[in-house]
Amino acid sequence: MEDNFFSDLKRSDFGENFIWGTSTAAFQIEGSPFADGKKASIWDEFSHKKGKIYKGQNADIACDFYNRYVEDLRLMKSMNIKHFRFSFSWSRILPDGTGKINEAGLNFYDRLIDQCLALGITPWVTLYHWDLPQALEEKGGWTNREIINWFSEYVKVCVSRFGDRVKNWMVLNEPLVFLGAGHFLGIHAPGRRGVKNFIPAMHHASLCQAIGGRILRDFDENLNIGTTFSCSYIEAFRDREKDYKAANRVDCLVNRLFLELSLGYGYPFEELAFLKRVEKYYKAEDDDLLQFEFDFIGIQNYTREIVKNAWWIPYLQATNVKAEKRNLQTTDMGWEIYSDGLFHLLKKYDAYPGVKNILVSENGAAFPDQLINGQVKDEERKQYLQQYIAVTLKAKNQGVNVNGYFVWSFTDNFEWAEGYRPRFGLVYIDYERQQRIIKNSGLWYRDFLKTTSIQKRTNYQSISFKS
Ligand code: FCB
Repeated sequence: MEDNFFSDLKRSDFGENFIWGTSTAAFQIEGSPFADGKKASIWDEFSHKKGKIYKGQNADIACDFYNRYVEDLRLMKSMNIKHFRFSFSWSRILPDGTGKINEAGLNFYDRLIDQCLALGITPWVTLYHWDLPQALEEKGGWTNREIINWFSEYVKVCVSRFGDRVKNWMVLNEPLVFLGAGHFLGIHAPGRRGVKNFIPAMHHASLCQAIGGRILRDFDENLNIGTTFSCSYIEAFRDREKDYKAANRVDCLVNRLFLELSLGYGYPFEELAFLKRVEKYYKAEDDDLLQFEFDFIGIQNYTREIVKNAWWIPYLQATNVKAEKRNLQTTDMGWEIYSDGLFHLLKKYDAYPGVKNILVSENGAAFPDQLINGQVKDEERKQYLQQYIAVTLKAKNQGVNVNGYFVWSFTDNFEWAEGYRPRFGLVYIDYERQQRIIKNSGLWYRDFLKTTSIQKRTNYQSISFKS
């Protein structure tokens, strides 16, 4: 697409009610893992194990958001960002996962929410962005069906405390990633491996996804309740039956499984026979328990995957052909830049009769940013965002019910096993000095989000003077 096409992008093309924000997660920014009564989460534990994180880094300080949230929210406001998605740290609120509530932890989120509201920033809260209390992991964590009760207790504590001020809730962040990376591959916390962990954890997380939604709805039927899914547009490597079938299996696991469970479609045993092992953990009431009518789904997209048949890969018999092998330019995560993928995904999700409303709850890119003379000239990130925002508009104009877009992320932060190496922020962090520098992409987003009062006044007059 031509450069002009993007520079013509206008916020007003999306309509006044379109939600523009940024996303983040507690563990990636807060730091202060043991402040004011907080106890360890699985990520605190995992990140201190040898060899798990890039260069042995940890998130003990991260962006020091726990102490600097006021400064960061002011910066956000100065960039015209009016919607902020963040997550609660379960082990700040219930340090042992259940039982004794930590008032100081709740107070932190009270202050954060109140500060958002005072600045005119709407909070969007994720209940679970991967940081299970370590105490619960020691009881089996997601593999133990008891987690249904632990999670319910946590959700109730959160919604009864914050439900008066927080109207927008997301139950889980990307179940497939914390289950796949954390309970099958062992490369994320808690470092569990194999189907024997993945299958029960998957089932219990799917139950919690719906149960969390129901608890929120029971508390207040006017809350805006969603959950988020990682998704990648999947295509077959070669034009041959085997690769199409492999692509279909991967699509089913990556893009469909968790959404379809909430919609009442059940498990896709036909495409993914290995999921049949779930029967061992499945109770009669689960058909109902798994379902919940979400007000919206948050889709989180960064790239596409090209998939080929691979008989040697257990369970899936499929593998992806990396972008670098296809000689393509990638982001600092090695991910292909392919904005049309987001367009196809928006269409795909919109076609489900049970999907009422879609938000792009994460999208963004890591590039090797450099701070030179007080500036970060991240032209590539700016172009990436413009391309993905442009296809969001294209989908919206074709009738897709997409109503919001959140950049991942506001500031650079701790990118899980990759540590601080990948920088995803609109704002650069000089970690040594804890300084914030708005990157050029952030300046672009700020200007893009600027609305003029003149525009609004014209709209207002055209309505009020209509005869
Ligand atoms: C998503 C995660 C988020 C961040 C981005 C880059 O999978 O939800 O925490 O790591 O990727």
